[in-house]
Amino acid sequence: VTITSPHNEKLKEIRKLTARRRERERAGRFVAEGEDLLAAADAAGWHAAERFCAAGSGLPGIEVAPELLAGVSGLGSGTRTLAVYSERWTESAIGPLCVCLWGVGDPGNIGTVLRSAEAFGASCVALGPGCADPFGPKAVRASMGAVFSVPLARVRDASDLPGLRVALAAGQGVPLTGVWEKTHAQDPIHPTVTLLVGAEREGLPAAVVAAADVIAHIPIRTHSLNAAMAATIALYETSRMARA
Ligand SMILES: C[S@@+](CC[C@H](N)C(=O)[O-])C[C@H]1O[C@@H](n2cnc3c(N)ncnc32)[C@H](O)[C@@H]1O
Repeated sequence: VTITSPHNEKLKEIRKLTARRRERERAGRFVAEGEDLLAAADAAGWHAAERFCAAGSGLPGIEVAPELLAGVSGLGSGTRTLAVYSERWTESAIGPLCVCLWGVGDPGNIGTVLRSAEAFGASCVALGPGCADPFGPKAVRASMGAVFSVPLARVRDASDLPGLRVALAAGQGVPLTGVWEKTHAQDPIHPTVTLLVGAEREGLPAAVVAAADVIAHIPIRTHSLNAAMAATIALYETSRMARA
């Protein structure tokens, strides 16, 4: 049966999940839109709780009148398909290559870091206090599907992070290139590292920097990089050193 009423309960749920973090956290569910994202979920074996498609599109799912589906879509151009998923969080942050964001409030940055984490084979993205919701529409879109394949963990304390904890701070500590030797020296059999990245304005809290094993910087000619850019460069450098 095709959904043709804007008052349909399933459409109401989609609107709520798309609009409000509190609603996503309460339900433990979120929405992803578009064929590419849904294909990424399928490839990761993350099955939709409910899947919807524009009536007549030939795509799988419950058919919805196209203008109604466009109405609940967060994409300016509308969508041919979207689905509701249950959130997944790992019990704890895991190595060998973990990136931890602390107070990163821009959902686009969260999604971009997930995308980079997938690209460089990170084992986990850990989110400390004050981070945007990785299951919000902007973060899911920016992740380009990586939200379905990179394990996500919540952390409250830097001591919950695996391996050598490296606080990334512009202009402070040692150059990042020296960090792999320290990681290897700490555990030559299973070298494990966590890269800590701070908030867009405030950077990492002093207590988190103090709890880290190493402070490291990416040498640059300006004051600082965007948080997601810094995470991406650090992931590139660390994964490169780990393979060398
Ligand atoms: C936009 S920066 C924060 C700038 C903040 N005003 C400060 O000075 O810390 C966001 C985060 O990106 C990381 N970051 C930015 N540039 C970096 C660099 N050159 N080296 C290491 N980390 C960097 C740090 O983790 C920082 O907390």
